[in-house]
Amino acid sequence: MAKTAKAKAPTDVADLTKAQAKVEHKRLALEIENHNKLYYQEDAPRISDAEYDALRQRFDAIEARFPEFVTSESPSQKVGAAPSGRFKKVRHALPMLSLDNAFAEQDVLEFAGRIRRFLKLGDDDKIDFSAEPKIDGLSMSLRYEGGELVTAATRGNGAEGEDVTANIRTLEDVPNKLKGRNVPEICEVRGEVYMTKHAFLALNERQKAAGDTIFANPRNSAAGSLRQKDPSITASRPLGFFAYAWGEMSAMPEATQSGMIGWFQRCGFKTNPLTRLCHSLEQLVAFHRKIEEQRAELDYDIDGVVYKVDRIDWQERLGFVSRTPRWAIAHKFPAERAMTVLRDIEIQVGRTGSFTPVGKLEPVGVGGVIVQNVTLHNEDYIKGIGGDGEQLRDGRDIRIGDAVVVQRAGDVIPQVVDVILDKRPKNTKPFQFPKKCPCPLHTDVVREETATGEEGARARCTGEFACPYQKVEHLKLFASRRAFDIDGLGEKQIEFFFEQGWVKEPADIFTLEARNNKIKLEEIEGYGQTSVRNLFDAIRRRREIALERFIFALGMRHVGETTALALARGSGSWKSFHDGALKVAKGDEDAIAEMDALDQIGDTVIKGVAAYFGESHNRGVVERLTKEVTILDAEKPKSNSAVAGKTVVFTGALEQMTRDEAKATAERLGAKASGSVSKKTDYVVAGPGAGSKLAEAKKHGVPVLSEDDWLKLIGE
Ligand code: IVH
Repeated sequence: MAKTAKAKAPTDVADLTKAQAKVEHKRLALEIENHNKLYYQEDAPRISDAEYDALRQRFDAIEARFPEFVTSESPSQKVGAAPSGRFKKVRHALPMLSLDNAFAEQDVLEFAGRIRRFLKLGDDDKIDFSAEPKIDGLSMSLRYEGGELVTAATRGNGAEGEDVTANIRTLEDVPNKLKGRNVPEICEVRGEVYMTKHAFLALNERQKAAGDTIFANPRNSAAGSLRQKDPSITASRPLGFFAYAWGEMSAMPEATQSGMIGWFQRCGFKTNPLTRLCHSLEQLVAFHRKIEEQRAELDYDIDGVVYKVDRIDWQERLGFVSRTPRWAIAHKFPAERAMTVLRDIEIQVGRTGSFTPVGKLEPVGVGGVIVQNVTLHNEDYIKGIGGDGEQLRDGRDIRIGDAVVVQRAGDVIPQVVDVILDKRPKNTKPFQFPKKCPCPLHTDVVREETATGEEGARARCTGEFACPYQKVEHLKLFASRRAFDIDGLGEKQIEFFFEQGWVKEPADIFTLEARNNKIKLEEIEGYGQTSVRNLFDAIRRRREIALERFIFALGMRHVGETTALALARGSGSWKSFHDGALKVAKGDEDAIAEMDALDQIGDTVIKGVAAYFGESHNRGVVERLTKEVTILDAEKPKSNSAVAGKTVVFTGALEQMTRDEAKATAERLGAKASGSVSKKTDYVVAGPGAGSKLAEAKKHGVPVLSEDDWLKLIGE
């Protein structure tokens, strides 16, 4: 980011040096992301479409000239970001969910076991599965009314997607009118839009020549092609569609998944030709193996296979666990690997001072994305003497200049899994792990303690809050979405404000506006009157903050979001938490016991709280901060269902549902289903044959409901 230079007329992209282009690419990425957020999440655009398009054009031109700047994080690649044009939102009649993953055969076995238990099937009852390739594209919901295509919507967040009907109409694989007589009045056909691998390569060639968006993989290029304002552009991009699922249907034409696939074909859709009906676990595993063998030869990317219970009545009974169906699973393929060269090793210092060595690679494509950074975990991993590193590399160390094999498994961060010694350049030396922090203080480094107090593998800077790296990392966490959630104060801005000395600790964020007559933020490149006003508005909005966010934002070691919530709910108010924490830091045994008694809180967290409040520097930071903000008392868990937060015990025979189904429903509504009755139980739901639990309920005065009472209570 240009530091203090004033805005001037932009240089032609063709005349930028690589260093200038890199700086501008970063700045534009931030700006575009910010506008996308304003537009999509807040429905509050601050610039016109034309201004937005101009930003995008310049950004795309830079990426076209320097394709090495393109990463999967770039706004040009984001499915949720518009390459050009913006779309209306559509609420899905039924949510679009995702799939749980299986990696090993054991996971598939357990998946089938869960289904068997849930449906109470005997060992001899057969379950048929539809086995399908898992296409790595974008899911799409196509709504037909009276046989005519009326809306095509992207998945979006699952509940609400974007209306891309005009663009979808240009796809050959999507019929505008369903074929066949007697199609149900309402049909939502769901499936995957994808681009073939060869079309993707050809498209990137053309894009580069025209100075347009370069895509990182076929999936991103399919997304980019769909999100065009001008449908004729989508029409010029070769997109395919496979139908494999449905949403709202006014009537079901078939009783099985495989039947539905046949029906999609009869309506005029393409379905994946590799789809098979499997009758046993052995057949599923064989299907997985066979498709994996064919994977490289297929002209579209797949990242696994999907198994779905074939009988739709069973699918309905099995239902969903949070956002994934119980009746389907994605069996992923093992990680893909590629060879490249390790150019450098950099040390990143985290918020708590811990070091992460990051390998800088010669960029390489692995499993559809370009990888250029890889975590090297810790010193032992680099030496080849720790954990996975040891197993995979047989004790070989990793050196700068080495030829390395990089692996990427699903969404997992890429790893170095092998070092090719034959290719090791002659003059390499083992990597010397730093003994001093790379921060200007050069503070000593120690091995971090594990939760059990032993020496861990990670190195830490001992500078604590004197270490500027840790301070800045803490500020980033403080302003982040999960903590204070201050719009317009992302990581880059924090770094910049910190370097300038304007924000050195959290309280400074809230005094920024009052100091701005000296700082004059509006005169800095990338900031105008409006964005400065927006930033100050955003900061002002966060002067009131929920207790759990406040506790999380302090950045105590071992206090993540969940723990912060537990501490907040357990303490109720900031005053009560703060008083307790100060006492805990002094070793007050009653206070420690009190914190220990809170739900989900144990020794490690207490140590983190004590260490934090034991430091006078931190106490000062907290004191100055609490002068600037109002901390709201903790909220009770809320949900609008009648049984949210209640504990329920099911006993006896249930007639309208299985026990597992009943428990799953209770949990979905925010209740806790328990196996035994105590005075904490809120309801016992008893069917015929209920025994000792009924007696227990009477003993504790717990209300007893019939199955019908229960269904009435939950409104089903
Ligand atoms: S079924 C309720 N079948 O995978 C589950 N999904 O991780 C509905 N996908 O969002 C999805 N091929 O985009 C299903 N044969 C297939 C699929 C498939 C690819 C994608 C889809 C979905 C994601 C879930």
